[in-house]
Amino acid sequence: MSHQTPRPLTTVRASRLAGTVKVPGDKSISHRALMFGALATGTTRITGLLEGEDVINTARAVTALGAPAAKEGDTWVVKGRGVGGLSQPAGPIDFGNSGTGTRLMMGVIAGNPVRVTMTGDASLSRRPMRRVLGPLKKMGLEIEDDRETLPLTVRGSDALTPMVYELPVPSAQVKSAILLAGLHAAGETTVIEAEATRDHTERMLRYFGAEVRAEKKDGKTHITVKGDAELRGRDVVVPGDPSSAAFLVCAALLVPGSDVTIEGVLVNETRTGLYITLQEMGGDVVLLNRREENGEPIADIRARASKLKGVVVPPERAPSMIDEYPVLAAVAAFAVGDTVMHGLAELKVKESDRLAATAAGLRVNGVAADVEGDTLIVHGTGGSVRGGGTVATHLDHRIAMAFLTLGLASEQPVTVDDTAMIATSFPEYLGLMQRLGASFAAGAADSRPR
Ligand code: S3P
Repeated sequence: MSHQTPRPLTTVRASRLAGTVKVPGDKSISHRALMFGALATGTTRITGLLEGEDVINTARAVTALGAPAAKEGDTWVVKGRGVGGLSQPAGPIDFGNSGTGTRLMMGVIAGNPVRVTMTGDASLSRRPMRRVLGPLKKMGLEIEDDRETLPLTVRGSDALTPMVYELPVPSAQVKSAILLAGLHAAGETTVIEAEATRDHTERMLRYFGAEVRAEKKDGKTHITVKGDAELRGRDVVVPGDPSSAAFLVCAALLVPGSDVTIEGVLVNETRTGLYITLQEMGGDVVLLNRREENGEPIADIRARASKLKGVVVPPERAPSMIDEYPVLAAVAAFAVGDTVMHGLAELKVKESDRLAATAAGLRVNGVAADVEGDTLIVHGTGGSVRGGGTVATHLDHRIAMAFLTLGLASEQPVTVDDTAMIATSFPEYLGLMQRLGASFAAGAADSRPR
């Protein structure tokens, strides 16, 4: 995907945010529903699918591989081809900005005798693929030219070798790619993880009829999928994305007098690290009306403006809030005292180097921040953030939304240099924020303080 003209935006300080809203479907679950639907026999019907650019690219990818995914009324319908049943695409497949789409599809492609050229935008073309290609190569995926970044061409096989693989980095994308390839291997494939990462693949594969077991051994989790699997098409209801809800919750905590409720949010414990951290900071965040849908726990989340204090966020919490550190850093800027976030190595290989981009965005808005190895330290201002800066977003949707959040409560307007990428994960973001009472001005801020 070639990137459109940058769309800068400036926040106007909000007086109060209030209301009850829903956020769009979870991005991780949306990608998986489309892919698993393609690998199933029969039809999969998905409601609540996130219609962000990342997920739409995955819908196009499975369609190009012979499993058409299209919207009928409110429902996305995928006509599955069965494990190993995908067909040769007519041309290269563009994954846009999406690491999840790319890496999981590498696992899907591995088990089909097809040759696929995979491309992406400038951000995705810089991201490391060796973490997925290394183990998939051992299972039988061929990588032409031995490239480790997009664009690259891979060739799948209908004779994959099963494997036992211990994850060198805590990554649900790597885990999922190997398990997806394992569906079509002859025998059992096991992924060992020392730190729990999001488990949507395991849950949804079971829901589609695959045999998946998770066992604890020596403090690690061994996740095993049985090969020659058969998946059956299912109905999937996608819950609200906690990583999108995060921006609304954090804004409500920062803007005085706010009271916001977000209905139907996924609260799987592999995803709720931010909410625990906000509570530890003294944030008035409550999970109400807990229930279960499609094997995933959901709840309504209510957040009210709060006085916050700095905390230490332990490294073992990182996988359960990996996408939420930029917005947590924005919140920490308003807290009393320092917030110390450990174990952030993986932040450096997201849509941008989020560790560097977050620290730079804070500093340009008058907030002191230090990066020490894999640790980010935000020196809280106790409530008064100067703002007035222009944040470089580096094609990263979450950097853009995190600093728009900061600008809702800062003294001077905050500009982000580009909001176009917000459409990859949360196209409704600006509209929802405006419904809650926020306002934004197109373009860069003038230099007058408010
Ligand atoms: C995702 C896993 C995480 C996360 C990404 C979505 C997934 O990446 O950052 O937004 O759906 O599996 P890693 O697994 O690389 O940490």
